[in-house]
Amino acid sequence: MSIDAQKQDLTIGIVGAGAMGRGIAQVSVTGGMKVVFFDAAEGAAEKGRDFIASMINRNVEKGRMEKAEAEAALKRLSIGASIGDFTDCDLVVEAIVENIDIKKKVFNQIEEVVREDTIIVSNTSSIRISSIAAACKHRSRIAGLHFFNPVPLMKLVEVINGTDTAADVTAALEVIGKRMGRVPVVVKDAPGFLVNLGGRAYSTEALRIVSEGIATPFQVDDIMRDSCGFRMGPFELLDLTGIDVNFPVSQIIYNGYFQDKRLSTYPLHESMMEAGRLGRKTKAGFYEYAEDGSLIQPEPEAPVTADPARRVVLAPEHSGALDSILRDLGVSVLKEDDGVSPILADPIGEDCTALAVRLNLDPKRLVAIDTHTGVYSRATVMAAPGADDDIVLSVMAMLKQISGGVTRIKDGPGFVAQRMRAMIANLGCEMAQIGVASPEDIDKGMKLGLNYPLGSVEMAENMGSRNCFKILEQLQAITGEDRYRPSQWLRRRALLDLPIHTRD
Ligand SMILES: NC(=O)c1ccc[n+]([C@@H]2O[C@H](COP(=O)([O-])OP(=O)(O)OC[C@H]3O[C@@H](n4cnc5c(N)ncnc54)[C@H](O)[C@@H]3O)[C@@H](O)[C@H]2O)c1
Repeated sequence: MSIDAQKQDLTIGIVGAGAMGRGIAQVSVTGGMKVVFFDAAEGAAEKGRDFIASMINRNVEKGRMEKAEAEAALKRLSIGASIGDFTDCDLVVEAIVENIDIKKKVFNQIEEVVREDTIIVSNTSSIRISSIAAACKHRSRIAGLHFFNPVPLMKLVEVINGTDTAADVTAALEVIGKRMGRVPVVVKDAPGFLVNLGGRAYSTEALRIVSEGIATPFQVDDIMRDSCGFRMGPFELLDLTGIDVNFPVSQIIYNGYFQDKRLSTYPLHESMMEAGRLGRKTKAGFYEYAEDGSLIQPEPEAPVTADPARRVVLAPEHSGALDSILRDLGVSVLKEDDGVSPILADPIGEDCTALAVRLNLDPKRLVAIDTHTGVYSRATVMAAPGADDDIVLSVMAMLKQISGGVTRIKDGPGFVAQRMRAMIANLGCEMAQIGVASPEDIDKGMKLGLNYPLGSVEMAENMGSRNCFKILEQLQAITGEDRYRPSQWLRRRALLDLPIHTRD
């Protein structure tokens, strides 16, 4: 039997008063629970307590919290002189340095002093919970409780089930997570857990697209923000988190999944690290930053000055979305090819080259428009190598009349938005397939942990699971790469036309 997670005076021991331990202590005391706070470094817990007091008092000043409530919360926080002061704790959270040997030792010390039903968790980001538990006497009470930085602002907490974690321990941690004002998701003990794994597709596919010369980092970022609703483009995000952080994490997760190509990053990532272009912290990454840290805007692309196309031919295969865009533009669509007008298509997953060959279209005049995420905020166009530039520019000028921006990329399967979204969705579906978490929790994790506009499983539904599946099949066929193999979760639901969250 595990602890009563609902009990009023639930006491939490927190070891480690660094960035994470402080945040966890703050949400614990504001959540009405008692905290015993300990850090091995002299004065660190006291400094942590002062920091928490300043954060809580700031909330009072801003009118987010009553003064009496703040005082009561701070009274619930006490400093421990050693791990020996955790004897009465119902839960102990370890948030010390990320070192497995030190963590194991600290877990052993905790086990020495706590009750037999006390739950002990680690806030580790990268160490397998089962590896820590393997050093413990009672493995069923060991779990992960993975918070995000800064804890008071990040609502998500991953409850990580080790191989031997008891079901009532998981359930108790979900209750305590909620009492801390967090949104818990239950996650399997696997490399990168949920959020760090789920976030791989966004950066690695973007690096891939840029490495293939299909688009620049700035173009990819513009498309992901404007067409797909992401708050930050993948390259802005890589610069913000730091290449020295995200490159090693990518490698750990890739190797943790035994080199599954879907998770591989690209040499460009390593080159940036080797070059010391680590992002904002070095004032240079994919972008350049001024001394005061502000972004130096990259050179804008040359404005499109061509005359807009007024007559176009449509490829025999195209979507209703393209018809409606052309209607909005008032462009005349020729019934017969006049041999000079642009030929427009909006392929799903195919590049212009494959489309021109398959449908026997003039590759010089074929211009593909990505209608999948719409063209009104930003339109993306591409054409095959050797295409007539004047034709492409006339189509861009035509789209400019209704669009916030027009981006021309090089020929590539799935443009940028389709490809990026399909890869994010595929990883989300694969995570559901291998039981990293439930499909609903995967979506919650991606939205709350990474600010995605949609969860990654939901994204497949939003794209239409058949479209998503088709994009991946095309990418796999055109590139010949295992990286694009569709998840079986996606394949089955797409083929059977079932809602993507349908359980097995
Ligand atoms: N910082 C993040 O963004 C983040 C996010 C999620 C998880 N984590 C994980 O949380 C843990 C802590 O990270 P952090 O960023 O707060 O680290 P930090 O370096 O800010 O703080 C660690 C604290 O632990 C103390 N400590 C070290 N060894 C100790 C021991 N044996 N006994 C008691 N105290 C000890 C140190 O004195 C220090 O105050 C790590 O496992 C990390 O992977 C960090």
